[in-house]
Amino acid sequence: MRHFIDLTDWSSIEIRQLLDLARHLKQEWQSGGNKPVLEGKVLALIFQKPSLRTRVSFEVGMQHLGGSALVLGPDEIGFGKRETVADLSRALSRYVHVIMARVFSHAQMLEMTQYATVPIINGLSDTQHPCQALADLLTIYEYYGRLEGLKVAYVGDGNNVAASLAQACAHSGVNFAIGSPPGYEIPETIMDKVGDLAAQNGATVEGFNNPRSAVADADVIYTDTWVSMGQEAETARRIQVMQPFQVNADLLKAAPSTAVVMHCLPAHRGQEITDEVADGPQSVIFDQAENRMHAQKAVLVKLLSS
Ligand code: CP
Ligand code: NVA
Repeated sequence: MRHFIDLTDWSSIEIRQLLDLARHLKQEWQSGGNKPVLEGKVLALIFQKPSLRTRVSFEVGMQHLGGSALVLGPDEIGFGKRETVADLSRALSRYVHVIMARVFSHAQMLEMTQYATVPIINGLSDTQHPCQALADLLTIYEYYGRLEGLKVAYVGDGNNVAASLAQACAHSGVNFAIGSPPGYEIPETIMDKVGDLAAQNGATVEGFNNPRSAVADADVIYTDTWVSMGQEAETARRIQVMQPFQVNADLLKAAPSTAVVMHCLPAHRGQEITDEVADGPQSVIFDQAENRMHAQKAVLVKLLSS
């Protein structure tokens, strides 16, 4: 039994196979509908934090494949409070075939994998967002028709989305650069592993403390919120520190005019990205949102058929 928690738990070949499967399932869906390969299967969606894309794309994706999904919000199950994570994981595994969890603590996500007897999918933790990164690879591939040799520049907070994106790029031979303020870099433990993986796949990883160096020669410019869920108490400080890292028309001038702009959403317009850029001709943010559904269908099919 496999889990989908951290992209570095999977090999680069497996990530490519997941992308191939996602492209196949997307094409099948566009040509009239998916085969009900997950008929009778039930997915539980645990949410400790709010969500639009993750919740809807998983639930609808499961329906497309003939299965069903049920949503368990924070007030329903009291994740980590009403009973132990171990007990919750063991009990829930008796009812459903697969569990997706969006939780605060990555350690609790890992604890779930120790006790669950069905696959666990990470729908975002404080350190990772692998479903987003897989969907992002799909979006970049669709736009450029290839991945290897491209350059993705992430600008802003070195958060969960940035970490998974760096791993996804490293798996795919995509050069990755990040421009983030001092103290807001992707954690070193994650970056060390990303560096090794990128080198194995012939790609580079660079870190800068200014946004312009990061976006030079970039094929993709990517940003995310400056204040992730759970960091609300740091809002004022983060907004002040990250201001020079806003993805705006001026920053785009430092990159090729052919670069696409990505954002995992929800966007905080006027903070990490301007309206002009989010709604501009280089933006592919809603393709990313749609591709969550296609990428996650591939993950579900893979986990439930292995
Ligand atoms: N990108 C993303 O995960 O969106 P939600 O928080 O709305 O699920
Ligand atoms: N970094 C953001 C991503 C939201 C999808 C957060 O964790 O809130």
